[in-house]
Amino acid sequence: MALLEINHVKKTYKVRKFGHSYRLLAVNDVSFSVEKGKCVGLVGESGCGKSTLGRLITGLERPTEGEVCFTGTPIHPRDQHSKKLKFARDIQMVFQDSYDAVNPRFTASQIIEEPLKNLTQMSAIQRKEKVEQLLGQVGIPVGEKDKYALEFSGGQLQRVCIARALASGPQMLVLDEPLSSLDVSVQAQILNLLHDIKEELDLSYLLISHDLEAIYYLADAVVVMYGGQVMEQIDDIGFFNDMMHPYTRMLLSSTPAYQKKNKDDAQAEMIWMDLGVQKEGYQGCPYYGRCHLAVPECENNRPQMKEIRPGHHVACHQIK
Ligand SMILES: Nc1ncnc2c1ncn2[C@@H]1O[C@H](COP(=O)(O)OP(=O)(O)O)[C@@H](O)[C@H]1O
Ligand SMILES: [Mg+2]
Repeated sequence: MALLEINHVKKTYKVRKFGHSYRLLAVNDVSFSVEKGKCVGLVGESGCGKSTLGRLITGLERPTEGEVCFTGTPIHPRDQHSKKLKFARDIQMVFQDSYDAVNPRFTASQIIEEPLKNLTQMSAIQRKEKVEQLLGQVGIPVGEKDKYALEFSGGQLQRVCIARALASGPQMLVLDEPLSSLDVSVQAQILNLLHDIKEELDLSYLLISHDLEAIYYLADAVVVMYGGQVMEQIDDIGFFNDMMHPYTRMLLSSTPAYQKKNKDDAQAEMIWMDLGVQKEGYQGCPYYGRCHLAVPECENNRPQMKEIRPGHHVACHQIK
């Protein structure tokens, strides 16, 4: 059994724009799983539903349809109004913008202590010791524990946020674009830290990112989303360069390291997404409007995921 299983999960939002209201399918029938000790990379451009999926997995929101299971048990209580989460200690989240994710009036030690107060039975002395141990684990000198959030640099504060996520002793972290608000040199340090912590604590990760190089470095498996749906999935990072959905190819061709190796590949195109493809009722392939392989069938018929070889699934009518 996988540690985390996402089964046919849908999330719709009611949206009001220019006096019209419609239902937007932020996540549309998404299924995949995360094995114990593994990292799944979730790739896709802005607005494709990655953070929504992260919030559904951490229980911050409830799916409209489908189920998220952790160690075989649904994480959302059956009672629609219950706010009690079964796996709050086990699944924690790290957010993109650390300055947004913390109370600016809190010190590092208060930030890290909060989940210890809320989710564990530790005494004040035990909490103090744990905070110091966590600071050491993420590379912040214990002498800086009384510094306020805004006194830290972006990279340092992201380390504090990682310590907070580790405080309750989780088995899994959902990392929602943990690098994208940081300088390039700091990104590499945080990526290394995430790698080391994962090995040390045998954690599982869902790494949400549009940085394919980070995904390649850390992930064991990759899920590519577009317009709320999964377009391609590989269970083994060894297939990374063999991914073939036209959208994935476009993403790969816009990655600098990949461009150097594959000069013949298509030139990177501007990234944009027609959000109409997420309107409830749209029946076709979400990538239809941008796809150079599109045929009329693609506009009216949503392609289903099919296995093109063991551990490699693609949703595209043109890939047999
Ligand atoms: N609370 C909300 N209410 C209405 N629409 C939302 C809400 N949250 C997200 N959305 C919409 O759902 C889609 C997916 O958003 P999001 O999950 O944040 O994407 P990503 O993280 O991939 O950038 C977007 O079109 C976004 O505008
Ligand atoms: Mg997001």
